[in-house]
Amino acid sequence: MMKKFVFGNPIETDAIVCREGIVESQEKVPYFSRVDDRQGEGCLFAYEMGGHDIIYGLGESIRGINKRGWIYESNCTDDPIHTENKRSLYAAHNFFLVDGKGRFGVFVDAPQKVTFDFGYYERDRLTITVDPGGFILYILEGESLRQIVREFRHAIGRSYIPPKWGMGYGQSRWGYQNAQDIRQVVRQHREAGVPLDSVYMDIDYMERYKDFTVDKGKFPDFPEFVKEMKGQNIHLVPIIDAGVKIEEGYPAYEEGIENGYFCKKEDGTEFVGGVWPGRVHFPDMLKEEARSWFGQKYKFLIDQGIDGFWNDMNEPALFYGEDHLKDIFRELGEYQKKELDIETFFGMKDMVLGLSNHPKDYQAFYHEYKGEVIRHDKVHNLYGYYMTRAAGEAFEKIEPDKRLLMFSRASYIGMHRYGGVWMGDNCSWWSHLLLNLQMLPGLNMCGFLYTGADLGGFGSDVTEDLLLRWLELGIFTPLMRNHSAQGTRLQEFYRFGHVESFRNIIGLRYALLPYLYSEYVKAAMTDDMMFLPLPFAYPDDPAAAGVEDQLMVGEGMMIAPVYRQNARGRYVYLPEEMKLYRMRSEESMEVQVLPAGHHYVEAELDQVLIFIRPDHVAPLAKGGCHVEEVDVSCLRLLHFIKTEAVYELYDDDGYRKITDWEQGVTKITVAVNGEVTASGSKTGTYVLI
Ligand code: NOJ
Repeated sequence: MMKKFVFGNPIETDAIVCREGIVESQEKVPYFSRVDDRQGEGCLFAYEMGGHDIIYGLGESIRGINKRGWIYESNCTDDPIHTENKRSLYAAHNFFLVDGKGRFGVFVDAPQKVTFDFGYYERDRLTITVDPGGFILYILEGESLRQIVREFRHAIGRSYIPPKWGMGYGQSRWGYQNAQDIRQVVRQHREAGVPLDSVYMDIDYMERYKDFTVDKGKFPDFPEFVKEMKGQNIHLVPIIDAGVKIEEGYPAYEEGIENGYFCKKEDGTEFVGGVWPGRVHFPDMLKEEARSWFGQKYKFLIDQGIDGFWNDMNEPALFYGEDHLKDIFRELGEYQKKELDIETFFGMKDMVLGLSNHPKDYQAFYHEYKGEVIRHDKVHNLYGYYMTRAAGEAFEKIEPDKRLLMFSRASYIGMHRYGGVWMGDNCSWWSHLLLNLQMLPGLNMCGFLYTGADLGGFGSDVTEDLLLRWLELGIFTPLMRNHSAQGTRLQEFYRFGHVESFRNIIGLRYALLPYLYSEYVKAAMTDDMMFLPLPFAYPDDPAAAGVEDQLMVGEGMMIAPVYRQNARGRYVYLPEEMKLYRMRSEESMEVQVLPAGHHYVEAELDQVLIFIRPDHVAPLAKGGCHVEEVDVSCLRLLHFIKTEAVYELYDDDGYRKITDWEQGVTKITVAVNGEVTASGSKTGTYVLI
C-alpha cells in the first residue's frame, strides 16, 4: 500500500512512473506528526522511534547499513572526503524504511534539499525537514521489508540493465594520457593473465577537457583505435563532464549559446562556473530541447565505436562561480589592508576555502523546466539525474536495440532507469572497503542495481593487501572497476608482487558471472534487490538485525568479506546452517558445513568466503579473459542440498534489450541424491562441486 501526501506545489521530478495502486490521501500522514511548517522556511515532520528501531535506505550515503544515529542531507555534493562527519555525498536518494515499533517506508519526492535526522538531535526522534517549496511524501506499508521495497521499486520503474561486458572487469586511472598508455594497460593485463573487459578514459582523452572531442595528438585515429581495442575484446569507456567549455569555435559551446541551451542568471546572461576546462557554461539538462541536444552529442563518440560512458561532475560540481570569485578577489583586496587577527584571518581563510560548491552560486542560475523558470537550488538534486537522462533518452534513438553502458556520479531516484552510479571519490582506506559494502543494499532499495566503488580507493595510496581484500568484495558488485586519482600510487594489479592472487580472484568473478548476471537481471525484472541486509532474508532472527558487515547476494548466497588489515579471518554470523566455500580461485576451494550461530572463520589474504544457503545452488562457469570467453556449456554448482534445490538461471546474448526475460530462464533442479535436471532456454552439463 503506497499513500501519497501532497504539500504545496511540488515540482515534478519524474521519479515515480507507475501510479497504479498509489492512493492520494487527504488524511493526516500516518506515523508522523507535522511539527512545523515554518512559514516558508521548510517543513518538518517527526516520528518517535522505538528503542530498537532500525532504519535502512538513503541509497548512497555514509555510515552503516542501519542509518540510525546520524543526520543526513540530500544535497548532491562533490566532496571527495567520505568521512563519518559528513552529511551528503553525490546523490539524493530520499527513500528509507523503518523497522521496529512500526514497519513502513518513506519516500520524500522533493528536488530541493531534504534533511533526515535519524536520532541525531534526540536519540529516539526521527525528523524530516524539507527546504522551502512543495513536495510529495509517500508512505508505504507491506507484509515485509522486501515487499515494501518491491512496491516502491515498481512505482519508480525498472532499473537499468547494463550490457554483460559491463559486469566484466574495468581498469581506470585518472592519468592515462593517450593510446599508448591504454595499449600498455591492456597488454599488461593480457600478459599477466588478468581478465579485462574495459578501459576507462578520464578527462585527458579530450581536447582541453572539452566534452565530445578527442585529442588528435593523443589519439591520431580514434575510430581505428576503438576498433583495435574491440579486436582485443576491450571496450573503451570515455568520461563526459557536465560543464561545457567556453571557447569560440567549439561546436558544443556555439550551439549551446545560439539556441539558449545553457543555464542563465537572473539578468538573462549565461552563468559562468569554473571546472576542469576553466570557464564553463552548464547545459540546462532540465529543459527538454537542451536535454535532447546534449544527449545527441554522445553520438559523436558512439559513431566512432564507443558503447559506454560515465557522467561526471554533475552535482554539478563548481570549483567556483565566476561572479562569486570576483567578489572574493575584491574582498581579498580589503583584507590586505586589515590586521589579520584571529577573526579576520580565519574569516579570510574560510571565505577562500568555501569557494567551491557554494550555496550562493547554486542560487545564481535558473532552469526552464516544464514551462517554468526555476532557480537552480530548488531543483539542485535533479541535475545529475537529468544529465544521465539526456544520454539515456538519446541512446534510445541512436541505438534502440542495444544496451549501452552508462553510470553517473550524481543522481536522484528516477535516474536508476537510465544508468547506474559509482560511489565517487573514496579513498584507499580500510574503512571505505566496509563503506562500499554498507552502501550496496541502500542503493538497491532506491533502484540502483548497477553500482560499485572505485576498487582499491580513488584518493590516497593503496597497499597490495587492501587492493586484494577490496577486490574480494568487488567481485560481487555489478560494476567492478579499479580507479584511482592522479598523483596516488599506481594500482593496476600487475604492478604488485602476487599478481596470481589478483588473477585468481578476478577469475572467480568471471566464473561467478552466470549467477551474478542472472541475479541482477531477475532483480531488475522483479523490482527486487540483489544485495540484501541479513534481516531482509531472516526477519525473525534478532541477531541478524545487528549484522553490518555481511550481505545476502541474490537468492542463495551470503558474503562476508574481510575488511581489516592483517586479519587472517573474521567473525561471521550464520542465521542458519550453511555451506562455506573458501575459495582461492574458481578451481581451488575448501568446503565445510557450518551450523547456525557465530563463528570465527579463517580467510587468508587470497581467500574469498562464499556461504550457500540450504537448498540453494550457485552456478560457476569456466571463466575467461573477458566476458565473451566465459564458457557456460558446463556449469559447476556450488550447492547445499538438504531436500531439493531449484534455481532459475537467466542468460542472454548480453547486448540486446531484454524484451521477454522469462524466455531466457533455465530451471535447474538438484535432487537430494545429487541428480541434476534442467529445463528451459539453455540446458547444458551440470556438475556438483
Ligand atoms: C572526479 C571523479 O569523481 C573522478 O573519478 C575523476 O577521475 C575525476 N573527476 C577527473 O575526471
